[in-house]
Amino acid sequence: MRKLSIIGIGAGHPDYITVQAIKALETLDVVFLIDKGEEKDDLAKLRREICERHIKKPFRFVEAKDPERDRKPVSYEAAVTTWHDKRAAIYEAMIRNELADGQHGAFLVWGDPSLYDSTLRIVDQVAAMQTVAFELDVIPGITSVQALTARHRITLNRIGGPVHITTGRQLAKGLPGDDTVVMLDGECTFKTVKDDGIDIYWGAYLGTEDEILISGRLSDHSAEIERVRTEARARHGWIMDTYLLRKTSGGSQ
Ligand SMILES: C[S@@+](CC[C@H](N)C(=O)[O-])C[C@H]1O[C@@H](n2cnc3c(N)ncnc32)[C@H](O)[C@@H]1O
Repeated sequence: MRKLSIIGIGAGHPDYITVQAIKALETLDVVFLIDKGEEKDDLAKLRREICERHIKKPFRFVEAKDPERDRKPVSYEAAVTTWHDKRAAIYEAMIRNELADGQHGAFLVWGDPSLYDSTLRIVDQVAAMQTVAFELDVIPGITSVQALTARHRITLNRIGGPVHITTGRQLAKGLPGDDTVVMLDGECTFKTVKDDGIDIYWGAYLGTEDEILISGRLSDHSAEIERVRTEARARHGWIMDTYLLRKTSGGSQ
C-alpha cells in the first residue's frame, strides 16, 4: 500500500514545524510540490529548505505546475470546481506514477491543511476516482491565524465568545461578527467597514524576517495599512496578510 501524508508545515517561520511533522518528514520517499508560479518563489524555497533540513535519508521531489485558474470568472464557485478537477487529475497522476507500492509520499501544506487549503479536498477527489489506492494521514500545522494572535500577543476569542473566520470577498458583504479574522483579502476590504468602534490587528509575512505588524483603531490605521501593504507587495512581488477585526464596544478581553 502507498502511504500519503498531508503535512501542515506552519505559516511562515521554519520553527513553526511540529515534532509530529518532523517525524513524518523523516520517513518520506517522495515530496510532491506544486509550482504556483514565480511570485510564490520564496514560499517554494522555504518548503525545500524544510525538507533538506529534516529529511535525512535519500528522497525525491516530484514537481508539477499548478493548472491555470480563471481569475475573473462569471461564477466563482464553478471556476474553483473546474480548477480543482484539473488539479485532481494532476495529483492522481503524480501519486500513481511517482509513488511505488510501500513508499511514503507527502504534500506539504502552508499553515494547517484544514484552513483555506484545497489539498485535502483534492486528495479526497483522487481517492474517489479509485484508480490508485493509498493510506492517508493528516498532520496539523500552525496557522497564520495563530501566528497573527501570537505576534500581536492577543487572544483570538473573548471570554466565551465566538470567532468568525472569513475571506475578504465575504467581508465585502458586511462584518459577520464582533471578532472576525479575515484571510485571502487582496483588496484591503477592511476599508469598507465603517463602524467606528473597531480595532484591527494586521500582520503580513507573519513568522518570516519580512514580517510587518500594525494594530490599533481601524479608522486611524486603515489608510496606513493600505499604503504599507501596497509598498510591501511591490517590493516582494507578492504578499500574504491576515487580520483580526475586533469590535471594542461591549466585549471584555
Ligand atoms: C490559501 S490560504 C492558506 C492558509 C493556511 N492554510 C493557514 O493555515 O494559515 C492563504 C492565506 O493565508 C493567510 N496567510 C498565510 N500565511 C501567512 C503569513 N505568513 N502571514 C500572513 N498571512 C498569511 C493570508 O490571508 C493568505 O491570503
